[in-house]
Amino acid sequence: MKDQGDFEERQWQKMVDGGLADFSIPLWRDFCDGLHLRLLNNWLGGRRFEASLKTDLFDEAVGVGLANWICSVSVRMEGLDLMPTIAKRAADRHPGIITRQADVRFLKAYPTPCFDLIVSNSTLDHFKDESDLSVSLGELARVLVPGGLLFVTLDNPQNPIVSIRNRRSSVPSKSTGLIPYFMGCTVPRLELIRMVQDAGLTVERSDYLMHLPRVLFLHASRLFAAGSPSGRGMMGLMNSFELLNKLPTRSRTGHYSAVLARKPDA
Ligand SMILES: C[S@@+](CC[C@H](N)C(=O)[O-])C[C@H]1O[C@@H](n2cnc3c(N)ncnc32)[C@H](O)[C@@H]1O
Repeated sequence: MKDQGDFEERQWQKMVDGGLADFSIPLWRDFCDGLHLRLLNNWLGGRRFEASLKTDLFDEAVGVGLANWICSVSVRMEGLDLMPTIAKRAADRHPGIITRQADVRFLKAYPTPCFDLIVSNSTLDHFKDESDLSVSLGELARVLVPGGLLFVTLDNPQNPIVSIRNRRSSVPSKSTGLIPYFMGCTVPRLELIRMVQDAGLTVERSDYLMHLPRVLFLHASRLFAAGSPSGRGMMGLMNSFELLNKLPTRSRTGHYSAVLARKPDA
């Protein structure tokens, strides 16, 4: 476990050392944030929370991320990230949130249940060992108060592009270029549902998210200024791919699986 943790940390350190500027693609960040926020708003409606946790701070370090929305529905928001640089950068950009360096597999800072909302978008799909997925889901379930909600997304391995990409990026020397960081183990939506249930939570909703060819549009987004007429056109085109979620092929086109689960009342 320690060697795996060290391996993963080295991979993330390489990403940080390479500079995070390359990830700050405004149009792409706006698109990702918007997609997640629409799903969260749809699933959570007008609910309000006492204390929320976000399980990585990458989105908040390179863009607006989900922090403003989470703060708007929560009295208090905390966020953690394995990499101190990312946690610090997110804290600089979002002084209203409490940030810390921590590993989502060992939430020692929270000995007792204390969150009624946890947002975990694509954090748990970066482990080298699949068993860490259950470990981290167990930790997240542990720190949820009864009645609290977990929103979790994972890369969808049923999408052939994700599947091929993950095979390439599991070789460290190839985690560069179009695949800028290390991709870990992930599981299909039904397996994620089973794992969430095994962690003691009740699944309320599940779906697929982000149906465009991600790597293509991520890089194409660099060519358009967010908010410009052409940027708005590009944003419309990217969002229109979500119509694919209505087709029977959605498990093949969705880049992410998403699950909303609730910790049963005590
Ligand atoms: C590149 S990102 C992608 C996540 C982002 N939320 C998204 O949807 O694109 C992965 C982030 O998770 C962090 N991370 C990786 N392993 C982690 C762990 N075990 N605990 C907490 N954060 C972790 C990394 O430092 C990085 O900031």
